[in-house]
Amino acid sequence: MSNIFDIDKTYVANTYNRFPVDLVSGNGSIIKDNNGKEYIDLGSGIGVTAFGIQDEEWKNAVIAQLNKIQHASNLYYTEPCANLAKLLCEKTGFKKVFFGNSGAEANECAIKVARKYAEDKGIHGAKIITLKNSFHGRTLTTLAATGQDVFHKDFLPLTEGFLYGEANNLQSIIDLVENNTVCAIMMECIQGEGGVIALNKDFIQGVYKLCQEKDILLVIDEVQTGNGRTGKLYAYMNYDIMPDVITTAKGLAGGLPMGACLIGEKAQNTLGAGNHGSTFGGNPIAAAGAISIISRINDELLDEIKQKSNYICEKLKNADGILSVSGMGLMLGVETKKPVKEVLSYLMEHGVLALSAKTKLRLLPALNIKMSDLEKAVDTIIAAVKE
Ligand SMILES: Cc1ncc(COP(=O)(O)O)c(C=O)c1O
Repeated sequence: MSNIFDIDKTYVANTYNRFPVDLVSGNGSIIKDNNGKEYIDLGSGIGVTAFGIQDEEWKNAVIAQLNKIQHASNLYYTEPCANLAKLLCEKTGFKKVFFGNSGAEANECAIKVARKYAEDKGIHGAKIITLKNSFHGRTLTTLAATGQDVFHKDFLPLTEGFLYGEANNLQSIIDLVENNTVCAIMMECIQGEGGVIALNKDFIQGVYKLCQEKDILLVIDEVQTGNGRTGKLYAYMNYDIMPDVITTAKGLAGGLPMGACLIGEKAQNTLGAGNHGSTFGGNPIAAAGAISIISRINDELLDEIKQKSNYICEKLKNADGILSVSGMGLMLGVETKKPVKEVLSYLMEHGVLALSAKTKLRLLPALNIKMSDLEKAVDTIIAAVKE
């Protein structure tokens, strides 16, 4: 057996519906398959390769660390881990960072923080409110946090202790808080997997105020929205709030597995030695990569992200075959008249890689995608959606 598709299908667990494309190399936002065909990448490995493929600065930072030490357990100190935590705290105002290896792990940490925060106050079995149509990960606990039955079925029983409110319906959250003992409210500012739906500012501010009044932790899941994606360093910054905890992953380390849970003043001392851990968490190579990403997300880049977002929205909003454009920054959902599967196939055939979220086309290009690549890709989308 020499065909990579056959080998993969035979030996890799059958949990993904892969497109029949074998990606072998790339540069910036251009990716090449094994036949030498080039694609403009509007997916970034689902929002991971924040500065594209083979980004020089990221590569140099990672290689420099590879030449020093690739791993040290969390029994010891390493410079990249400490410096990354400092950088994240200084840029956000959070006080402590726990490092894991994925978005789900970052959320697991946030959930443990919330539960222990309540336990420390003598409150046992407090519940966590999440939103219907949310997505928080694939572990049994983050699946429980995910407010979509479709992901729950076949895996019951899930971790108990979650309640589901309705996005943009503050009263539904107030009712749950009044009728239950609640230690946290956890949500995405823009529901990514749920269809790139940005929540209303009034709703998020209402939840923030409610959390403050009731001493409930506000946890914002920034796994997909974080690290510059929405035109701010973190999406909550678009809403004039300060959460108690945020979680992030995906673009954080530019393509290396890393998740982080950032904890604010209220709960900064909730976790103590032995309460949580991860063998690979804070790995020095991933941390070195992340420093090279986070240190470059400055006002100039954020302005560029907004300009590129405006460009995409303006071009697509009125295009024939497009019903609506949602999202923020370079996290956009496009509702098309044609089925999204058909649009994705056309795009792939014509050299553009994109994503879907529910029935929408989803765009998560590299934050520094070249304007010329973006223009070509947007023109291809316009051709793809035309009826
Ligand atoms: C908002 C959100 N939270 C959590 C996750 C889970 O992240 P991971 O796949 O890295 O565990 C995702 C992944 O898509 C996500 O979009």
